[in-house]
Amino acid sequence: MASLEDLIPIVNKLQDVMYDAGIDTLDLPILAVVGSQSSGKSSILETLVGKDFLPRGTGIVTRRPLVLQLNNISEDSPLIYEYDEQVSSNNDDNDDDNDSNDQNEEREITLEEHLRKNISTYKPEVKNEWGEFLHIPGKRFYKFDDIRKEIERETSRIAGKNKGISRIPINLKVFSPHVLNLTLVDLPGITKVPIGEQPPDIERQIKNLILEYIAKPNCIVLAVSPANVDLVNSESLKLARDVDPLGKRTIGIVTKLDLMDPGTNALDILSGKVYPLKLGFVGVVNRSQQDIQLNKSVGESLKSEQEFFDRHPVYRAISNRCGTRYLAKLLNQILINHIREKLPDIKARLNTLISQTEQELEMFGGVDIITRENRASLVLQLMNKFAKNFIASIEGTSSEIST
Ligand code: GDP
Ligand code: NA
Ligand code: MG
Repeated sequence: MASLEDLIPIVNKLQDVMYDAGIDTLDLPILAVVGSQSSGKSSILETLVGKDFLPRGTGIVTRRPLVLQLNNISEDSPLIYEYDEQVSSNNDDNDDDNDSNDQNEEREITLEEHLRKNISTYKPEVKNEWGEFLHIPGKRFYKFDDIRKEIERETSRIAGKNKGISRIPINLKVFSPHVLNLTLVDLPGITKVPIGEQPPDIERQIKNLILEYIAKPNCIVLAVSPANVDLVNSESLKLARDVDPLGKRTIGIVTKLDLMDPGTNALDILSGKVYPLKLGFVGVVNRSQQDIQLNKSVGESLKSEQEFFDRHPVYRAISNRCGTRYLAKLLNQILINHIREKLPDIKARLNTLISQTEQELEMFGGVDIITRENRASLVLQLMNKFAKNFIASIEGTSSEIST
């Protein structure tokens, strides 16, 4: 079964090739989560990324847009090795909780001691996942808890400490071998009644802020509605309809299925019988407030979510189309379709480049002499071959997914 991770090497390679050829990037879609306050937007994003790093909770927690750019790096990326130099110089601004034990290491040690010590403490653990904020250039956050704290700090810095919101985004890049090159936007929730420092027209302000992101045609709207509120009152679907009246780039997400009144269920909604969306509805169960307090991990959450659907008397029948894993698969499919739509254009541009280079080569008297142009031509020929293989692999991947 194809997963988001299966796509990574393919997309990565394609982007590299296109970058080398000076062709525009793939212009991949941006995913934005929209919904009323505390409907579970931040929780969904965290589970999709597979890391705990977003402030979540009851009340208005997300108060500035968070533009989260995921960057795939290979396990042996040169970027990772910068880390070693950084540790030696930056060791002590690293963090508060483990800085006390490296003092008494100075005395001479025997070779045997040295070996024993290094064998037992040597961990080939490469710190290959980290975050970087635009507002703190060059600083790498290796602990995702620290990323959350920084988001909270930076939210208060601009939006105040008393429930105010701000349209100025926080920009966070996450580098990891386990993510796809993709941009996700977490947005403040829609609210009606002003509290704290919020202005009287808070509802309008938040809606305008959301529209700034979701009005863009390459934005996929993840329209979140909690299952314990009637769908006809769903704020997210109303907003999504404003920018996507035909429901072509909106995915409906129903959260809190675990909190519905006993005896009721969302089967009709999830089966698309209540509200028309081309990409459909996906039901999820995120971590509850209590799970958050008990530090339930993303992995555990995914597992219990799957169990919920597998064991549920009604959802059991559609459990292969429920849950965050299925949502990730759906997003994966959307990306593949997007890339496939771009392929003819990419190929045409690669071919143009190749024939240009070949013409230039002829002017230099054939392919026998090693010149820059000659090398470029060889590279382009390889790229052309790659483009063909790429099309084949995409077709293989997608047929695998659609079954
Ligand atoms: P946001 O305001 O839309 O970003 O919502 P959050 O992700 O911050 O979640 C708000 C609160 O709802 C948190 O306490 C979550 O634990 C809780 N929550 C979110 N989704 C679910 C769910 O599917 N089930 C349960 N039981 N609680 C959820
Ligand atoms: Na919230
Ligand atoms: Mg939130």
